[in-house]
Amino acid sequence: MTYLLALDQGTSSSRSIVFDRQGRICALAQRELPQIYPHPGWVEHDALTIWQDQRSTMVQALEQAGVQPAQLAAIGITNQRETTVLWNRRTGRPLHHAIVWQDRRTEPLCQQLRARGLDERIAHKTGLRIDAYFSATKLRWLLDEVPGAKQAAERGELAFGTVDSWLIWQLSGGQRHVTDVSNASRTMLLNVHTNEWDQELLDWLEIPRSVLPEVLPSSGTFGHTSADLLGAPVLIGGVAGDQQSALFGQACFHAGMAKNTYGTGCFMLMHTGQNFRTSANGLITTAAAQPGAQVQYALEGSVFVGGAVVQWLRDGLHAIKASSEVQQLAESVPDSGGVMFVPAFTGLGAPYWTPDARGTITGLTRGSTIAHIARAALESIAYQSAALLAAMGRDAVAAGGQPVHELRVDGGACVNDLLMQFQADLLGIPVVRPQCVETTALGAAYLAGLAAGVYADLEELSAQWQVERCFTPTMAPGRAAELMARWEHAVAQTRLQPP
Ligand code: G3P
Repeated sequence: MTYLLALDQGTSSSRSIVFDRQGRICALAQRELPQIYPHPGWVEHDALTIWQDQRSTMVQALEQAGVQPAQLAAIGITNQRETTVLWNRRTGRPLHHAIVWQDRRTEPLCQQLRARGLDERIAHKTGLRIDAYFSATKLRWLLDEVPGAKQAAERGELAFGTVDSWLIWQLSGGQRHVTDVSNASRTMLLNVHTNEWDQELLDWLEIPRSVLPEVLPSSGTFGHTSADLLGAPVLIGGVAGDQQSALFGQACFHAGMAKNTYGTGCFMLMHTGQNFRTSANGLITTAAAQPGAQVQYALEGSVFVGGAVVQWLRDGLHAIKASSEVQQLAESVPDSGGVMFVPAFTGLGAPYWTPDARGTITGLTRGSTIAHIARAALESIAYQSAALLAAMGRDAVAAGGQPVHELRVDGGACVNDLLMQFQADLLGIPVVRPQCVETTALGAAYLAGLAAGVYADLEELSAQWQVERCFTPTMAPGRAAELMARWEHAVAQTRLQPP
């Protein structure tokens, strides 16, 4: 038997999953990752803990599956994106905690870049909008703020990487400093037309080229694990940022295919093939996982508070004791009774981009109960996702294409049938849940499997993708439009906060 090992290093946990050739899960090991909040708005991770946890889950998953390293065709890596690690090449020690994608400390630096009028040129080169979310300003901050870092970087002693690079460095015993295009495209330093680091961007951000990893396609030879790690070297054959990996694991290989991952936040990606398109509707353009040398793109939108709204019902409102109780509470009423809940706790992302917005509940009456609020909270995940898909549709049509005709779903909250049905109703298209909802890890395993020759081509992977359940719309389109209009009205209230 041949197996593939996927390392899925996320924001809140490090996981390792052993897949068989058919993409079935044989074993899964997981460790929660401690979050570090040194100041309001700052979020850090201990990069050494990331590595140690990833290594231990990897060994544990292989033991659980009873799989020997010799039976592993390859390892695939998928990871939280943008999170920035800077380490010493000789000692392998990070100079500082990793700065996590959610960290906002570099907003002033972003403002300076915007004030220099660089928005459009950066968007054209990278597909991104200038934002503290991406790695470039985080790296700049580390070089400026860690004593001696700038000088050490100039002497070529330091290596920068997103979490994939950091893990590959460790897995290969410090032999390989590489990344893949999908991760590199999240740094705001990559020219996504050429898949090369862009000298002008490096100059604007004052980043020495010597710190950067080599950029490779998402499937191929990234390196091998050092022999002492698992007892024999294993090929690291696939790497992709987690959202692009999920798009790949959902077998969305062609223009117009889209997926939504329902996690703490929601990430919706639509493949746009080889066409680089910037959005007129607040989305960003990103490199899709690229199995070969050919460029491939996706449009991406994110919802900041998705499943996290259920955590707030539990921990903030004490409306439920466990997240799993939300469906029952929400189902205890036939609808939200006119209540709309916009969980703009940290502002709203695409397509609204209103960082100052705050959460709002509208439509309360004497008859409103906690069940109506729970239902509205759950529905807010679908409304926000529907607004994203509508934005994608407008972009697709403007570019002469078709709106998305089905949405593939994954992530923790996609198991909630009530939410998925409401999502299909709002969108007016089928919402399709695959048999394997661990699509993030599966995507990395597939990319590794392609490199190792386990799979011949994308057609073979498409054939392997299986539907578990398809939610077809049952709501009259007029009613869905009416609800969306009420949602947009509620969103407008979030912007009207008094000083
Ligand atoms: O861009 C951030 C994203 O990659 C984080 O994903 O699943 O680790 O929260 P996740």
